[in-house]
Amino acid sequence: MKLHAVHLPLLPLGRLGMAAAMLISVAAWAQTPAGDAAAGRQKNSMCVGCHGIDGYKTAFPEVYNVPKIGGQHPAYIVKALQAYKSGDRNHPSMKGIAATLSDKDMADLAAYYGAGPGKVASK
Ligand code: HEC
Repeated sequence: MKLHAVHLPLLPLGRLGMAAAMLISVAAWAQTPAGDAAAGRQKNSMCVGCHGIDGYKTAFPEVYNVPKIGGQHPAYIVKALQAYKSGDRNHPSMKGIAATLSDKDMADLAAYYGAGPGKVASK
């Protein structure tokens, strides 16, 4: 009989623990921000000089070998930016730029570029 008195209060606690664990995993998932293409468009002013979206190349000061990012898969863009930021990828200009971007900036930019020309109202 005494055992029941001990077990019953534990049952709701167990459920609470489950609920808390689920909440934590939802919160962790939410930390990967959803990209907002419209916001990304506001943030791409420092990218267009090199990654001009029209024709996917830059013409100034000379034709520069810059990879095409417009139309690239958003998850790939975020991964690439994170790799420049962390130093896994080593390119001086992209490293410097990625270092200034938050996860949200990266997601927004990825959503903007990943949408490709045409899917976001073009300027
Ligand atoms: C100074 C010119 C310059 C600017 C400004 C610039 N990039 Fe880059 N970016 C490059 C070059 C050059 C590479 C190729 C680097 C390499 O070989 O790793 C590159 C690579 C990338 C890649 C990887 C592409 C791939 O296919 O691997 C992504 C993604 C990217 N840039 C996104 C951005 C974003 C977003 C911005 C603006 C926040 C930006 N870049 C601003 C020059 C630039």
